[in-house]
Amino acid sequence: MYAMAFNVSKSCRYVLGRHSSVMATSTQFVKLYTPRSTAKMRSCYSCATQEKNKFELESHSSAAHVPAVTSQEMAVSGDRRGRLVENFLPFSNFLTDNYGRRHSYLRMSLTEKCNLRCQYCMPEEGVKLTPRAQLMSTSEILTVARLFVQEGVDKIRLTGGEPLIRPDVLDIITELRKLKGLKTIAVTTNGMNLERMLPKLKEAGLDLLNISLDSLVPAKFEFIVRRKGFHKVMEGIDKAIEMGFNPVKVNCVIMRGFNEEEILDFVTLTENRPLEVRFIEYMPFDGNKWNFKKMVSYQEMLDYIRQQWPRLEQLPNAKTDTAKTYKVPGFQGQVGFITSMSDHFCGSCNRLRITANGNLKVCLFENMEVSLRDVLRSGASDQELLEIIGAAVGRKKKQHADGYEPLDHTSGLPGPNDS
Ligand SMILES: C[S@@+](CC[C@H](N)C(=O)[O-])C[C@H]1O[C@@H](n2cnc3c(N)ncnc32)[C@H](O)[C@@H]1O
Ligand code: SF4
Repeated sequence: MYAMAFNVSKSCRYVLGRHSSVMATSTQFVKLYTPRSTAKMRSCYSCATQEKNKFELESHSSAAHVPAVTSQEMAVSGDRRGRLVENFLPFSNFLTDNYGRRHSYLRMSLTEKCNLRCQYCMPEEGVKLTPRAQLMSTSEILTVARLFVQEGVDKIRLTGGEPLIRPDVLDIITELRKLKGLKTIAVTTNGMNLERMLPKLKEAGLDLLNISLDSLVPAKFEFIVRRKGFHKVMEGIDKAIEMGFNPVKVNCVIMRGFNEEEILDFVTLTENRPLEVRFIEYMPFDGNKWNFKKMVSYQEMLDYIRQQWPRLEQLPNAKTDTAKTYKVPGFQGQVGFITSMSDHFCGSCNRLRITANGNLKVCLFENMEVSLRDVLRSGASDQELLEIIGAAVGRKKKQHADGYEPLDHTSGLPGPNDS
């Protein structure tokens, strides 16, 4: 049954090939793929939910209950041990990888479909769509979300394709809102249906909005997205501000020879609006004709902006922020840079992704996927599902390769604009 769950890249087939079989039970699977260093930790906490872990930590951390230590741990200084406890115990073991990264942020693709055809993202004819029966149903999405939230995920971003064209998107948000422990529900959208849907989205419980916009010139916008609709997006942005979303984030992919000369206009957009314009380094995807020369790096963008606003100041960032944020003194909004290409943020990566057909991806730049949909449909229990998830997280690499291999576009989940 679990063999169905793996959709592996060439490199992973190689790894699997070294083991005798992929027809493993979930327990065998976890044994095969859980490195020794974490196996012990997993056995202590393998059944514990985030809540239980918290409880155990609380009861252990009183002066009377210092956790038992191995001789190896005794060699670790008290301070470091304190940090180990703090770093590992309170968070789900299933969602903590071998490098101590806690994955508390889940990006879920609701659909592969889109009403635009951005040149850097999709071919003109669209992408080959997965048959409907193979996509995650509403209840499967909610089951998976519930499990992740129970384990400590506190932020879910709905993305796609275009998430707002999924007919049940409002129901999904309404149900997500009921999950105890989920602090933030975010959506990344191209803004085409936004103005019309905003009141209902807010009522359903949406907290955060990222709206994509790559040009402030209508004709250029239409050239890049291969459709009309510039004014609809602008109306969506204005309405989001009017309705009190703060900040409203605007995602702008900068491409040399296309919109790099609009960078200053985008910064000016933040002068009187509570916007965060996020400049995204152009990333390679299958078929987007990416080449290194088209990518404008963060440093180059920053230098360009500083020529106009030398006092541009950097703002403090949270550890897991993907954007480096700056502000022109006196401006209401701010700007951010998503530096996936020139300065990856693997060390503090806290995100996991689920594709519209239910594949779990632990890294955007990795092609290996595990089908949670197949596991769910096989009737697996929550515990079995968690073990599969934990094993996948356990295999997450320290960082993605530096070679800019094109990404498999079908995941529908480009990685920027994450917060
Ligand atoms: C794939 S879209 C999905 C959500 C929605 N359809 C939208 O456009 O906002 C998510 C984000 O990825 C960005 N993106 C897509 N392809 C990209 C690429 N090749 N390089 C950098 N960012 C990209 C888009 O600009 C968008 O902000
Ligand atoms: S970036 Fe978003 S809007 Fe543009 S084609 Fe991709 S999914 Fe559609």
